Amino acid sequence: MKREKWGSKLGAVLAVAGSAIGLGNFLRFPVQAVRNGGGAFLIPYLITLVLMGLPLMWIEWTLGRFGGHHGHGSAPGIFQTIRAESNLVRFLSLLGVFGPVVIFIYYTYVESWLLGYSVFSLLGSYQHCPDQQTMSSFLRAYQGLEKNQFFSSVGPAYFFFLITFFLNILVVYRGVTRGIEKLCLWAVPLLFLLAVAIVARTLTLKPVVHQEWTPLAGLGFLWNPDFSSLSDARVWLAAAGQIFFTLSVGIGVILTYASYLSRDSDIIVSGMTAAASNELAEVILGGSIAIPAAFVFFGPAGIQAIARQGSFDLGFVTMPLVLKTIPLGQLFGFLWFSLLFLAGLTSSISLAQPALAFLQDELGLSRRQAVVIFALGTFALCHFAVILLGRGVVDELDFWGGTFSLVVFATTEAILFAWVMGIDKAWTEMHAGSSIKLLGVYRFVMRYITPLFLLAILLAWTWQQAIPVFLLRGTSPENVPYLICTRFLLLLLLFGLYLMAQRVWSKKGKETA
Ligand code: ALA
Repeated sequence: MKREKWGSKLGAVLAVAGSAIGLGNFLRFPVQAVRNGGGAFLIPYLITLVLMGLPLMWIEWTLGRFGGHHGHGSAPGIFQTIRAESNLVRFLSLLGVFGPVVIFIYYTYVESWLLGYSVFSLLGSYQHCPDQQTMSSFLRAYQGLEKNQFFSSVGPAYFFFLITFFLNILVVYRGVTRGIEKLCLWAVPLLFLLAVAIVARTLTLKPVVHQEWTPLAGLGFLWNPDFSSLSDARVWLAAAGQIFFTLSVGIGVILTYASYLSRDSDIIVSGMTAAASNELAEVILGGSIAIPAAFVFFGPAGIQAIARQGSFDLGFVTMPLVLKTIPLGQLFGFLWFSLLFLAGLTSSISLAQPALAFLQDELGLSRRQAVVIFALGTFALCHFAVILLGRGVVDELDFWGGTFSLVVFATTEAILFAWVMGIDKAWTEMHAGSSIKLLGVYRFVMRYITPLFLLAILLAWTWQQAIPVFLLRGTSPENVPYLICTRFLLLLLLFGLYLMAQRVWSKKGKETA
């Protein structure tokens, strides 16, 4: 079956940038920076970007393009093309489909809240919430976690979820060029425009509570370095986690997107451009909105408390409170949530694509059949996130799909690239079609530093964070049965993928025998 190709180089770069730029840039990054040493956080952040983020970006572009050339667009097929055929690697390759599907299950639901909130902003629905507590109640009632004067059921959230889910499926149904590329060609530039407009508005906010609480002082607060944080291993893990999440590396999506490149595409420059766009959206734009805006109203102590509550509260509680008080607040609220919704949409469609590529390339299904199976399966699974949000199920899905799989899968890719494909072949393959030559030192980095760095992160992270989560430490007892059921369901999903892949592997084994 003939595989699709990106229509243009710009389209491919914008699609990868669209996958990378998401809620992570505008909500997760500023919270991580405040919690982990302010300006000093940029040191581990930039080091992990250079030693791990960029190399992984190039690794995925290279392996993806290579696999696509041999007719494979998802990790189980791509890893076979580089003759990585041990049972362990085959099993690990499934994470490149499993991870994105699991993230898709909750990401689309969270994305739908943004659509809901952009409508609520225009309608002024949360305009009468005077403080954090009432705004939190508004959010909790919307999510179906409590009933109050704002919402009496999860119905409105479900309505926006249906629209969001349908939109995602529609885009991927139209295919790589007519769906994903066409959307990203206008959505990514538009989201930059929206972000610039909101930054301009934020930085011109007048102090309202305290003369010294200006947006510029907010920027100073965010970037004030606390160098003592650098001796804390958790800060380094947080920086690495943010790089994975924000660049969308280690998930499997860039691998799939790269499989639709033509053989002569310049992957070094394209990979760098996509990463640079993401960093611009994150450090410059993402760093200049939520924290400076919230600083004007809540000051330094308030911001620390907000950051402790996490990214969702910053986006759905603090920002609406700030925006509703400024002139044209309803319009700016609408723009803020539309920006986040577009950023979310261009990321979630990329999460769908590895599974679709797997069904099409490996099982020989048509795009229509693949989309129908994907849509039915994920639609059913999304209900776990919708109905059991209050039981910690979304955090559980995020742990397995968005954290655990990611670290393991990224380590696998880095080792395969440098040691199974072999650095000589991999280096040549990466440079095919390239207009520039990467600094020779990167050959050393990709061969030794990136895999070792990833192994170190994997070990440190397993020790510090994974073991307590495996053992459900700190989970409230009434949630435990729900989380165990979620784990069981995820195991079933992985097993289903294994059975499907097994058929392909055994068929291919016979063909080559
Ligand atoms: N890279 C996407 C984000 O930052 C997933 O939200």
